[in-house]
Amino acid sequence: MHAFRYFDGILHGEEAPLTRVAEAVGTPVYVYSRRTLRDHYRRLDQAFAEVPHLICYSVKANSNLGVLSVLAGEGAGADIVSGGELYRALKAGIPPRKIVFAGIGKTVEEMAYALRSGILMFNVESEDELLLLDRVAGEMGRKADIALRVNPDVDPGTHPYIATGMKEAKFGIDMEEALAVYERAASLENVRVVGVHQHIGSQITEVGPFRDSLERTGELVGSLRGRGLDIRYINIGGGFGIPYDEEEVPYPVDYARALAPLLKERGCTVILETGRLIVGNAGVLLTRVLYRKKSGNKRFLVVDAAMNDLIRPSLYGSFHRILPVVENDREEETVDVVGPVCESGDFLARDRSMPRAEPGELLAVMSAGAYGFVMSSNYNSRRRAAEVMVDGGDFLVVRERESLDDLVRGERVVP
Ligand code: LLP
Repeated sequence: MHAFRYFDGILHGEEAPLTRVAEAVGTPVYVYSRRTLRDHYRRLDQAFAEVPHLICYSVKANSNLGVLSVLAGEGAGADIVSGGELYRALKAGIPPRKIVFAGIGKTVEEMAYALRSGILMFNVESEDELLLLDRVAGEMGRKADIALRVNPDVDPGTHPYIATGMKEAKFGIDMEEALAVYERAASLENVRVVGVHQHIGSQITEVGPFRDSLERTGELVGSLRGRGLDIRYINIGGGFGIPYDEEEVPYPVDYARALAPLLKERGCTVILETGRLIVGNAGVLLTRVLYRKKSGNKRFLVVDAAMNDLIRPSLYGSFHRILPVVENDREEETVDVVGPVCESGDFLARDRSMPRAEPGELLAVMSAGAYGFVMSSNYNSRRRAAEVMVDGGDFLVVRERESLDDLVRGERVVP
């Protein structure tokens, strides 16, 4: 459930009219709901209450300090994939002992930073990385707690760009090789094996792939324990999908019902690296219509947000609902909603049926809280959008719109 609704014909974030936010901060602007973030976090936490668990919010989905600090306040940990994400998580007040570090390309500097910070564990993705981590930890006189990311080879039935748990993916270690790599890990001086990690993909809208992969990972845990390894954590990754339109997707309780028996059987603490489920529907992107335009048989709405602000439609063909901020009963028309960027692939929606919108009017691109701002860029020298957190009837700018100076920071004119 999210807190973006119409009251008196105006779309609100919680009790704040989005017209007011747009007037105060300008457009394009991302707007997040604090209440929705907390609600989503709590539902997930409660769903898994019967098994020992730790929610490591996946920072890559939305790394704004405002978002991270709200989740830190709820007791969340963090799943990070870079030194930059570690910096943000710590700055937002997430305790290092609740931070897990994934990613296939960790550098020596990142490993050292994470070891110095005292994170809970590294999710190691290759034997080369394992050996390097052992060396770095040894040089620092520390022990690195690790899980190996294994590749359970299941098809999550999602977009190929975000499916990660199949054999051909660059992520993780093949199941067949996992035992050997675990044995290697156990023989090293400066790493301590504490868990098993899997992540099979993102925006998965069925329980089945999670159950199948957890069965395989669970068996591996059994074999590892049989070899005397003290496996205490099963990290099932992220990937719980959300509704972008009217589609039915499982709720956190549905996942918990299917997975809890398997998890209990293994007696481990489960780590959930959920991103999108918590933040996706807790955010919208507000944009203003600049022009109407016709070309042949096609109608276009040119708006002030573009693929540099929200790349999901261009990159994955993703669907985001687009609603008028001020409700109206005008006739529907079919339009492409496009931005000012000089690329034909710059669109937020194609062949979309929506009530006629006029220049100057505000639109809300829904479900934009996850993989929205974080994937934005300065392409076409567009300043990145502002971000706002609503809280009841109030709102706070949690990231200012970039300035022209921000755009050229660190650059030099060659004399
Ligand atoms: N854990 C790992 C190791 C991951 O790679 C990811 C996402 C997550 C957790 C969080 O997954 P979530 O719960 O948010 O599904 N940009 C794409 C999504 C890329 C996901 C990358 N990895 C999109 O806009 O759909």
